Amino acid sequence: MSAPLEYDPYSYELDVDPYPVYRRLQDEMPVYHNEKLGFWALTRFDDCLDAFVDWRTYSSASGTVLELMDKPVGGPLMIFMDPPRQTLLRNLVSKAFTPRRVAALEPQIREIAVRYLEPLVGRERCDIVAEFTAKLPMDVISTLLGISPADRDAVRGWSSDILHRDPGNPNPPQRAQDAMVNLFEYFGQALAERRRRPRDDMMSALIGAEIPDEDGTPQRLTDIEMQAFFNLLATAGNETVTKLLATAFYWLWRNPDERRALVQNPGLAPAAVEETLRYDPPSQYQGRTLTRDVELRGTVMPKGARVMLINGASGRDGRRFPDPDRFDLSRKIEIHLGFGYGQHICLGASLARLESRVAFEEFVKRIPEYEIPEDGIERMHSSNVRGFSGLTLVY
Ligand code: HEM
Repeated sequence: MSAPLEYDPYSYELDVDPYPVYRRLQDEMPVYHNEKLGFWALTRFDDCLDAFVDWRTYSSASGTVLELMDKPVGGPLMIFMDPPRQTLLRNLVSKAFTPRRVAALEPQIREIAVRYLEPLVGRERCDIVAEFTAKLPMDVISTLLGISPADRDAVRGWSSDILHRDPGNPNPPQRAQDAMVNLFEYFGQALAERRRRPRDDMMSALIGAEIPDEDGTPQRLTDIEMQAFFNLLATAGNETVTKLLATAFYWLWRNPDERRALVQNPGLAPAAVEETLRYDPPSQYQGRTLTRDVELRGTVMPKGARVMLINGASGRDGRRFPDPDRFDLSRKIEIHLGFGYGQHICLGASLARLESRVAFEEFVKRIPEYEIPEDGIERMHSSNVRGFSGLTLVY
């Protein structure tokens, strides 16, 4: 008889390798209910995709991170809203993230990547997270938002601490709560400074921005809304890319043929991005709250139920992807859910793709061969973000 099937997103053990549990959920309990922690979970690709698209039924308005659902944090964030307000807020910044606008940033991104990678050449080892994958996205998003170089380490530290969870305790520990307050206050000050003296950055640009209220009357964003916005961009645009890159370096090490293929043909860099997002994505689930009863595969999930859409599992669904546990850069991927899907699909996807492609191109030129010692692997612990907080490469 097989062991009882439990999916506990706070388990440190699960952080090592959640995929066998996901596989069993897909096969044995595609509509899974965790009574103890009070949530449901969908793991099959088609079920997750349908739910992402149906935002009227699967609402984001009560939050999307299990332990924070129904506990509003971080101010009014569009990621924790439904249309029409979410659409209005998203439209406000989406112009800055169109593929064309983002493509124009490539030379700057390449320069940043080279600046961090060059000092690693000629050495024998590095912590690729501390020295590269955490630095690049922070510098890129900081350049866009206007966070000064002197403040970047602090902002990066807070945005990473926000996600930390202690073992066995789903509530944000003091460290995470302090980080949230610090980040919010930091953006409050940044806003006040830009009011006094506007700069050529996104924070200054948002100060005068207006969106229509329910009656269609244009309203300025409140300070709280703006602070929440910067907070969201700084955190969403930072940890995720950091994790994606390090995860890719890990799997490229575990799959030397794929690594060699990328070294020989850096044109495979976009494939490395998409395959990592399918195979082991940084953002593992997106929570939703049901606005009505839903019957799925013979099971009824009641109105008000919290449902985790485990996009991390969806990429390994053999019903959608042949040989799903193989990390394969030659795979043709039509769609994956690594950036979510539908109404809330990642606003920064073009930017994340560009940063990651450039990072791979510049990395393989400089460090084509490396090993990862067992004691050089440090995992982060969070309920929904997956990846390494430290990864030593020896070369
Ligand atoms: C590899 C890197 C990234 C991954 C894996 C990722 C993943 C995701 C996912 C899964 C969602 C959907 C959330 C949901 O459905 O509830 C999302 C939304 C979002 N992402 Fe990303 N993201 C990445 C990079 C970025 C970057 C670079 C930015 C830049 C600013 C960004 C900004 C956002 C924002 C603002 C949202 C909310 C959109 C909305 O609510 O309409 N992300 N991301």
